[in-house]
Amino acid sequence: MKIIIDTDEKSLSIQEEGVNKSIDLYSDEAFEFLSHQWVKVGWNQKYPYTFSWMGRPVIQLPEDMLRTQEVIYNIKPDVIIETGVAHGGSLIYYASLCKAMEKGRIIGIDIEIRPHNRKAIEAHELFPYITLIEGSSTDSSVVEQVHSLVKPGETTLIILDSNHSRQHVLEELEVYKDLVSAGSYIVATDGVMKYLSDVPRGGEDWAQNNPTESAHEFIKNNPDFIIEQPEWVFNESQLDKNITHWPDAWIKRK
Ligand SMILES: C[S@@+](CC[C@H](N)C(=O)[O-])C[C@H]1O[C@@H](n2cnc3c(N)ncnc32)[C@H](O)[C@@H]1O
Repeated sequence: MKIIIDTDEKSLSIQEEGVNKSIDLYSDEAFEFLSHQWVKVGWNQKYPYTFSWMGRPVIQLPEDMLRTQEVIYNIKPDVIIETGVAHGGSLIYYASLCKAMEKGRIIGIDIEIRPHNRKAIEAHELFPYITLIEGSSTDSSVVEQVHSLVKPGETTLIILDSNHSRQHVLEELEVYKDLVSAGSYIVATDGVMKYLSDVPRGGEDWAQNNPTESAHEFIKNNPDFIIEQPEWVFNESQLDKNITHWPDAWIKRK
């Protein structure tokens, strides 16, 4: 594909498989098209590896964090469960929202919580909101432990950000689905992988082996869940799509 941005003509031209298309550079369609390319280039350049929240590295695209905040403030969950802790920045982020809302606690699960990360998370002023569990998110003892920490009737939000293979995310969706409250979500993050098989740092099989595939497979077998991007709380534009690493990630329990 060839893309020509002509700032003099204010046009965006796309040439693909012998077909030429030219659109207004200052249009929603051009913005969405350019954003998609920007997301791919930014992923390759490790742009999400440049942020932190209250002192801890957080490996996310800022828009995904802001959209998550909109959901958390709307749902005000009793428990936020995240698989995939890494440096703990996302756990600290959710904890800071819980503190501000005076509601909620966090459970973070990782197959390996490195000693320096554990030390920093445990020393953080928001650690009282967080329970750390070390082990694979689909290991039966971990799944049991998570279930034992959630009381019946509590509202939950579950974010899956661990191993992003199609099979692992599908298993996570199956073992945690019963914890998802009606109207809340289980989020299969990082489906951006499906667009990255042609990117230098991407994986060759990612077009098929990605969390978006898991999400679609999951809803086929679980009709009480739908894939639905959370509605934006504020929008004075004509835009309506997240610029995201999490396409088709938000799986809502009806
Ligand atoms: C993308 S990072 C998580 C980023 C973090 N949520 C954030 O926003 O900063 C993925 C993490 O998943 C963990 N992981 C990989 N396989 C796992 C598994 N089977 N169960 C739990 N965690 C796993 C890795 O150790 C790594 O720390």
